[in-house]
Amino acid sequence: MSNNTFLTRSKGNIKSLKKAGTYKQYKHLDTPMDAHSKMCEAADGAGGDVIVMSSNNYLGLANHPKVINAAEKALHKYGAGTASVRFICGTMTIHEELERKIAEFHSQPAALTYSSCWSANTGLFAVICQPGDVLISDSLNHASIIDGCRLVNKNVIRTVYRHSDMEHLEKVLKEHKDAPVRFIVTDGVFSMEGDIANLPALVELAEKYDAVLIVDDSHGVGVMGKNGRGTAEHFGLEDKIDILTSTLGKSLGGAAGGYVAADKDVIDMLIQASRPHIFSNSISPATAGSGIAALEVIKEEPHRVKSLHSKVAFFRKELKNIGYNPLDGESAIIPIIVGETAFAIKISEKMLEKGIYVTGFGFPVVPEGAARIRVQISDALEMEDLQKALDVFAEVGREVGLIKGAA
Ligand SMILES: Cc1ncc(COP(=O)(O)O)c(C=O)c1O
Repeated sequence: MSNNTFLTRSKGNIKSLKKAGTYKQYKHLDTPMDAHSKMCEAADGAGGDVIVMSSNNYLGLANHPKVINAAEKALHKYGAGTASVRFICGTMTIHEELERKIAEFHSQPAALTYSSCWSANTGLFAVICQPGDVLISDSLNHASIIDGCRLVNKNVIRTVYRHSDMEHLEKVLKEHKDAPVRFIVTDGVFSMEGDIANLPALVELAEKYDAVLIVDDSHGVGVMGKNGRGTAEHFGLEDKIDILTSTLGKSLGGAAGGYVAADKDVIDMLIQASRPHIFSNSISPATAGSGIAALEVIKEEPHRVKSLHSKVAFFRKELKNIGYNPLDGESAIIPIIVGETAFAIKISEKMLEKGIYVTGFGFPVVPEGAARIRVQISDALEMEDLQKALDVFAEVGREVGLIKGAA
């Protein structure tokens, strides 16, 4: 490195993070993502077999034999990848098949895949919003939505409403009632809070003020609704969402990849102009294959969703019984607010020492002072895994003074 100022600054930044106890360190898994995974041993002895409660593998499909076989078959049939972007020579029949199946799953006319939902969200708004339009976003929307909103034309009015505050949203909609188009964008399930968007109220407001409703349901797909079709299904509002974005990187096999599902013309506009789609490679055939298989498994094995719901309800209830106060919600994300970032990291480290892999989240992912342990339930977890996790939560909670009772 030739620039000494830059070198010294980088070293200093890392040192400050370490000093503040907010430095993130990867944990290395040496087996597939599942209820149990083998973590490479760390110097402090943490690791070995761990119960994973910090993955988005909500339905346990990341290591499902049908998902793996489908990826393998696609790999052999189509090779490693397209070596191209979609509109040049990067579209294979398996991409079209996946998009057809995604659209069908969400009862939308069409769908388009991206290399991630991050890409989908950052490629959407700049295409659909035009000068004079208003783009209204929930204050706790995912970072990819926030960044996507930042990419719109400078004459698009961007505004934020307080988290799930429908009165505030209505006020903003009223203020902009004369704009050519109003867009409302929300997470279906909020990733750090685990709460669900008030879709019935959002739909009502969208209809009243003639607004386009966009939902990112990355944490809702596979989890919410009787058939795992997401937050819209949970509320019986599948036909009321104008544009849906989501990921293949969580419930739907967990490989990678994201998508937008919407009206055919909207999808066509994205094909013409969405920059992450036009200038970035297609998802790999293996990923497309695993996504198709995951959608099929969800359809063929709806009991997985039901079983996930009962495990989530059990874990929430029992956490409260041992003295924790998790944020309320119905999704598979159960956050426990603990305060400072360093404290959240310390708790997650103590949990890991006892074989439970949960992640502590702090600033800047969540507001300062609202650091949390985010528990994520997967249907892959057996009841005995959940019970073991509860025992460890009780032990560690007492040790660090989060819950009452002798340590
Ligand atoms: C709500 C939400 N949207 C989008 C994403 C990005 O998904 P992907 O991993 O496919 O980029 C995430 C990932 O954490 C998310 O939680």
